[in-house]
Amino acid sequence: MNVLVTGARGYIGRAVAHRLADAGHAVVGFDLAPLVEEGPLHTASSIRQLVGDVRDEEGLTQTLQDHAVDAVVHLAGKIVVSESVTEPLAYWDHNVGGGIALLKAMVAADVRQIVFSSSAAVYGEVAPEPIAEQHRREPMNPYGRTKLTMEWMLEDLDRAGAVHYVALRYFNAAGAVPGVTVERHHPETHLIPNALTAAASGRPLKIFGSDYDTGDGTAMRDYVHVGDLADAHRVALDHLAQGGASLALNVATGLGYTVAEVVASLERALGRPVPTVAADRRPGDPPLLIGRGTAIREHLGWVPAHPDLDDITKSAVAAHRP
Ligand code: UD1
Repeated sequence: MNVLVTGARGYIGRAVAHRLADAGHAVVGFDLAPLVEEGPLHTASSIRQLVGDVRDEEGLTQTLQDHAVDAVVHLAGKIVVSESVTEPLAYWDHNVGGGIALLKAMVAADVRQIVFSSSAAVYGEVAPEPIAEQHRREPMNPYGRTKLTMEWMLEDLDRAGAVHYVALRYFNAAGAVPGVTVERHHPETHLIPNALTAAASGRPLKIFGSDYDTGDGTAMRDYVHVGDLADAHRVALDHLAQGGASLALNVATGLGYTVAEVVASLERALGRPVPTVAADRRPGDPPLLIGRGTAIREHLGWVPAHPDLDDITKSAVAAHRP
């Protein structure tokens, strides 16, 4: 299939674009900035690289037509939860405004299949047991609300017969795929890259919150290897191509690790300590977020190949360049 991947230059987008190209799809990568800036990270010749803004409905319609696109994987968007609390309008503009423009362009170009990058953030405050897809969606930050709004929009379009979708609710993407992607954002806010920078620089990692009800007091997350996460997009596209029904699915391992456990795992992989300092809770952070991964296994046959935290941190350590 000809597949447009929006946000193809990002940490997860690169892994998705490569995974789909490896699976034999003709991939058109679409992002705000040129992919070549990342140098060797994005060299697959089967991935065309376009620069553009998903809020540009006309440009997108043209792109979809020019490249005879069959399906879209939509990852482009703003992702920093704390920034979404202080700059909500930018999140509504990019994540929902961009989503509307993209969906209008898809309908105009008669492209009817989309895999959407949703988030565990749609659930909000949750229970200690792994969350199933039926769990109440009550996001606790603007970032999560923009993702939930997109899910609602897709549900309405599906009911109207306009598009079919798979919304993948990512839990915490982590780790690296050698030669393809390494976790890096500008500015960096994520736990593993921040911890690796702390280990390299000696400037302590701030641990946001040490009084959560999680055993050791630090927040707990479900870390999914970025290569496994990318593969979920491949099977979701296959499902849609075979005429499968629209779905919203967790991409989760069902395993929870605290911030302190992630730091300890990184220390094992590095063979040296990561300096840390206790800090206040970060605005918008839930205490714990662990997903049940059984529905995606049942519907798409997806199981994570690398659920073990030490495998994930080892891959991150091997690929990290300060
Ligand atoms: C968040 C979103 C997730 C989204 C992702 C994209 C929630 C609950 N999760 O993940 O849906 O896809 O952003 O960016 O909204 N931490 C530290 N020190 C640091 C960095 C992080 O202690 O320097 C802690 C955080 O407080 C958190 C954990 O580490 O408890 C993981 O943080 P991070 O890697 O930023 O991801 P989330 O915020 O969980």
